[in-house]
Amino acid sequence: MDFDIERLIDMALLAKSNSYAPYSKFKVGCAILLNNGNYILGTNIENKSYSLTICAERSALFSLYSQGYTKSDIKAICITANTEEVITPCGACREVLKELILEDTPIVLTNHLRYREIVKINDLLPLSFKLEN
Ligand code: THU
Repeated sequence: MDFDIERLIDMALLAKSNSYAPYSKFKVGCAILLNNGNYILGTNIENKSYSLTICAERSALFSLYSQGYTKSDIKAICITANTEEVITPCGACREVLKELILEDTPIVLTNHLRYREIVKINDLLPLSFKLEN
């Protein structure tokens, strides 16, 4: 592995601490390590109109693109939550990850106890919809 996974997990935990989740109380953090060494953080932001909630993963990815970065700038992604096992992203976030990251980008799924599992987007979203289909 050519990145510091412990630091990446630390950054995801830091992102989780910024969560705004007064309704679900389920805090999620996402940290994206760039090839230039910077981190982009994202967290879930809820709303009293529940469907307006944004997940941590999309929050981080949209911020990354908004700052002028793209998929080729991403070295690794980490997602964390206070789950018993590692967190796995929701279906909506899998679709967005599929579109906005490279297929071989490592995605570190983890939890507050720092358990970890490293997957790729095609593990999370096999047989995905393609426009050419
Ligand atoms: N959530 C995420 O941030 N990422 C996921 O992949 C799953 C769900 C958030 C949305 C909502 O604020 C809370 O977790 C409960 O669903």
